[in-house]
Order: sequence, then structure tokens, then C-alpha cells
Amino acid sequence: MSKLALFGGEQAVTIDYNKVGCCPLCSPKGIADAVALMEKGEISQSQSVIDFEKRFAEYMGAQYAVATNNGTSALDTALFAVGLQPGDEVIVPSFTFWATMAPILSQQMIPVFCDVDVDTHCVDPADIEKRITPKTKAIMLVHVWGAACDLDAIMEIAGRHGLKVIEDCSHAHGTLYKGKHVGTIGDVGCYSMQGSKLLPAGEGGILITNNRECYERSLAFGQYDRLAGLPEDSPCRKYMLTGLGHKYRPHPLAIALANSSLDTLDERNQIRNENARKLEKLIADLDWLIPQKLYDGVERQFAYHYLRFDETKFGGIRTFTLLKALGREGVSCGYCGYGRLHKSPMVLEGGPWGNCGKRDTPLSLPVTEFLAEHAFLAAPRFETKCDDLIEQYAAAYHKVGENLEALADYDRTHDFTQEMKNLSGRTIAMIK
Ligand SMILES: Cc1ncc(COP(=O)(O)O)c(C=O)c1O
Repeated sequence: MSKLALFGGEQAVTIDYNKVGCCPLCSPKGIADAVALMEKGEISQSQSVIDFEKRFAEYMGAQYAVATNNGTSALDTALFAVGLQPGDEVIVPSFTFWATMAPILSQQMIPVFCDVDVDTHCVDPADIEKRITPKTKAIMLVHVWGAACDLDAIMEIAGRHGLKVIEDCSHAHGTLYKGKHVGTIGDVGCYSMQGSKLLPAGEGGILITNNRECYERSLAFGQYDRLAGLPEDSPCRKYMLTGLGHKYRPHPLAIALANSSLDTLDERNQIRNENARKLEKLIADLDWLIPQKLYDGVERQFAYHYLRFDETKFGGIRTFTLLKALGREGVSCGYCGYGRLHKSPMVLEGGPWGNCGKRDTPLSLPVTEFLAEHAFLAAPRFETKCDDLIEQYAAAYHKVGENLEALADYDRTHDFTQEMKNLSGRTIAMIK
């Protein structure tokens, strides 16, 4: 049994991910296209953005797309697009990035948090149903880590209660549910194209819909310059002078980068998926690691490779201790930042104006809170064929497994309270 790197042994992962496991974020074509736009002076409005929207909508199988300056503004737009009003309740998970929830509060609506499923990490339809009140008007769901929610069940509930469905697909570029791209099943789908996403623009977002009214309301909300181009009969056309107060148009240079990424999205997704599946296979014998399960009919993308740690099969040690050991072996792993929104000051204080469901006691979401402690980022996105590196990752997991006793001892004698307080609540807090 070899000594853990945490205790002075050799690292299990010696291959440098930055040299073999990743690839450049901007392709030569993306860079050339961005430069060409600069040379033409198209650095604000550009037909190339409209062309990208058409291409993205076609790729997704949607009728309309509206590009925005980030995923957060796409989600903000979506709330208005589906016709929500201040005071409406929107069911949303806490197990997500803040941007799925915060626009609800900033538009003076009430986020009603629902729990998630422990195996799929996605919203639990049965729990959604329990939270519906006469004020509920929409469900905002997240296809978390690149998997997909139980859309049949959710659409059935939404249909029965007359609710709108907004899909946050920020992790799920290329994910299919029963053969359809996520984002095309609810009323509106929103994709982030921020630099760390599967389809990076640097900063960017895009909303898709099959509903003309949602499309036109999206333009009215954040794209004043496009309203004059709407048909005469559009109720949104009259806002062409002012829009409705937001300017969410994306930068054409960013869209050029996203457009070139779309050329290779399927190919890159396939490589990433094969790599993640290879790692899962190589560590399948470790019963203390539980892969994210999928609902029937889901073809996921491994945007983020999260696992669940079952400490009951691993000496009862804390997830943080496990990550410390893995991190020192050279595994690029991270503590989960999701599952804390329902306890955040913004929520407890009732949003920026203090009038959206102020609470003295945080709500309890047992599965969300459990997953926040037990789900962790197990590996980086392996972007190239890098079998040797993946095998080293598997070896690191096995090595940690073989050293349980020493690790349990370490866990008993170390206090990480301060270190854990310093972790950011973002998607991932990397552990070294
Ligand atoms: C689930 C989820 N929703 C929304 C967003 C917001 O996207 P953006 O950063 O492009 O505003 C992100 C970005 O990290 C995300 O992960």
C-alpha cells in the first residue's frame, strides 16, 4: 500500500492536465472571425449575431433564439418572456448556481425552493407538486451538471396546474431528453455561454423557444434595437423607442467565438463523455462513490463530473477530508457550492427590496442539504483523448480507498472549520 501524498507519499497523478487534458478555448477560426468583425467595425450590432441565433435554434430544433450578453440575462429575460408578474411564485431548486434564482427576486417575484432527487441531483417532481399554491405561476428547473430533469413528469404537473416551465440549460449544451434537446420542451430554455461552459462565448447567453409571444417578449425585454423589425401585428413593436429597460444584446466578438465552438460541439461532447465514462468504469468497484443517475431517455453531457460520497461505506469521514486527500494526489476535485441559496441573505431578507417572502428561519430542504455536503466534483473535463491521465485519476481514487484507516485518523484529529468557511459558494470550490 503506498503512502498518501497528504502524508508525504508520492502523488498518484503526475501527468499535467494543462498539457494533455485540455484544449484551447478559442479556435483559430473563432479568433479569425472575431478579428474580421473588428476589421469591419462590427463591434456592437452585427448580422453575425442574428445568423448565430438562427444556427443555434436549428441545432436545438427550436423555432426562435435570442442571444444575450450572459446566461443570467437570458434567465432574467425568460421570466418576462413567459408573462410572469411581480408577486408570482416561481418554484426553483436551491441546488443550483445563484443565477437560476436571483432574477426571480430582482423582478420582485417569490422563489419557492423545491428539493432535489438524491440520485439524479435534479429537481424532484413530487416535491415540486407539494409546493404549488394558487400564487405559483412557473417552474424554473436546472439540468444540473449536463444531465436532464424528469421532463415528462414536470411537464405533466405544469400542464395540470397551468404553470410555465423555464429550463436552465446552462450545463447542458447537446443534452437530449427522449431525443429532443433540453430547452425545447418547456416554454423557454436558457443557455449560458460563459467561458467555462460547453459552448463558450467568453460571456454570453442564449434563450430558445417555440412560442412567438415568448420570442417577441424576449426582444421587448432586452433588445430594443430589434423591435422595429417585428411584424406590424406584434404587440411588442410599439416599444421600439425604449425597449423595456434592459440592454442585453451580446458582444458580436463573443458570439463569433461561440459560433466557431458550435462547429465542433458534438465532437467535443463525445470525447468528454467517453473520457468521463472511462473514469466511472475504472472506479466502479469503489462502493463509496455513487455516480449521478439519469432519468429514462436522457442522453447527458459531462459538463461537470460530480459524484456522491457515501461516507457510511468509508469510515464516516467528512467529504472535505476525502477531497483533501484526493487533491494532494493531484486530482483536480472540488467541494460543491450548490444547495445554499435558500439560506442566503438575499433570500432571507426578501430580495433587493425586502418585499419578496422575507424569512426569519431558513427553509429546510433535506436532500438538497445532504447533497451540498456529499456531492463533489470528481475530475476536470477531459477534453482530449488522454487515457493515461484518466488511469492515473482512477489509481488516485483507489490509492485513497486503500488508505482509509490513516485517513480516518487524520479526519478525527483535524478541524477544517476555518478552511471551510473560506470556501466560495460558487459552483465548485477547488480543493488543494
Ligand atoms: C446553472 C447555471 N445557471 C446560470 C448560470 C449563469 O450564466 P452566466 O454566468 O453566463 O451569467 C450559470 C453559470 O455559471 C449556471 O451554472
